[in-house]
Amino acid sequence: MIGSANGACVSITGLGAHVPERVYTNADLEQFVDTTDAWIVERTGIRERRFAEKEQALTDIALPAAQAALRRAGVEAKDVDLIICATVTPDMMFPTSSALLADSLRMPDAAAYDLLAGCTGFMYAIAQAYGMLASGLSKRALVVGGDVLSKILDWSDRSTLVLFGDGAGAVVMERVDEGGFLGFELGADGGGGDNLWLPGSGSRHFEDADKLVKMNGREVFKFATRVMVSSAEKILHECGRTVDEVDVYVPHQANKRIIDHAAGKLGIPEEKIVVNVDRYGNTSSGSIPLALADARADGRLRPGELVLMTGMGAGLTWGSALIEWTEGKAA
Ligand code: ACO
Repeated sequence: MIGSANGACVSITGLGAHVPERVYTNADLEQFVDTTDAWIVERTGIRERRFAEKEQALTDIALPAAQAALRRAGVEAKDVDLIICATVTPDMMFPTSSALLADSLRMPDAAAYDLLAGCTGFMYAIAQAYGMLASGLSKRALVVGGDVLSKILDWSDRSTLVLFGDGAGAVVMERVDEGGFLGFELGADGGGGDNLWLPGSGSRHFEDADKLVKMNGREVFKFATRVMVSSAEKILHECGRTVDEVDVYVPHQANKRIIDHAAGKLGIPEEKIVVNVDRYGNTSSGSIPLALADARADGRLRPGELVLMTGMGAGLTWGSALIEWTEGKAA
């Protein structure tokens, strides 16, 4: 799916993020698997990540992010009429995490549902919220992206344990007078789905399924380096923009080598790239909003700037969005 945003101007008016307190360095992971700090840094760029406590679930991590986004937008929770939570690690299958968050935040008038699109979930969710806001169906949306992948990782598998972390981000989306989203490109290839999968997590029967993440790292790497480039090129072309016009590039934080490859092919200079995979690892649906929050914190997201975001992940899925940044300027 690809389209430029021809409807009303819709933008992100508030942004928040949250990670669990507990830090696991690469050296900490050496207790669980046969790995080294040097290997992890060289192959992935990751130095540390956060993992939730045993009693913490997704909504415990996502709630502070959602509250921060609402505060930042100056929006009261009761005025939100749509909440979408992108995650592959909801508290449970039902009730949905979005319904639980709507209850905790006191949003009696909000439609609430979870969205499952792997690490691309946040990109899919903001595209959906855009459509509902531009059509007038929703007036104020809260989009949450977050995961606690530590709960579904195989802590004895060194090829996956070292890559991931827990974290969440949230954005308030509203109509604005000018600027905001310019377009979206979203896609999926279920044929490659078993390169990153969770057998036994649904209604399909598997003998001896342990319900832990399985990944063919080399295949996912090839897929990622391909779609991170093609998706960005497609959305820029669709919106009539060039890569030189991009002020801030926010790629999914899976692996520094994937980010460097995509930025190199696209021709985006280092100073425009947001990277925090070194501190958080791959937080799946939380990755892009966490990176946005970091960029804002270090003064790199200013009104009027053109921001390119591209995600990819399980499904296999991918998605890009272009936005002219307007945070804090609701219509
Ligand atoms: N520590 C030490 N050695 C390791 C580790 C580890 N943590 N993990 C794997 N190895 C070993 C392998 O066993 C292999 O050993 P062998 O040669 O004796 O068989 C060797 O290192 C090389 O393995 P490769 O898989 O070739 O290593 P590669 O350079 O491809 O890096 C990696 C592996 C980091 C997983 C890479 O393939 C990658 O980043 N893939 C993409 C993964 C990803 O981003 N997944 C998530 C995306 S989607 C989402 O966000 C949910």
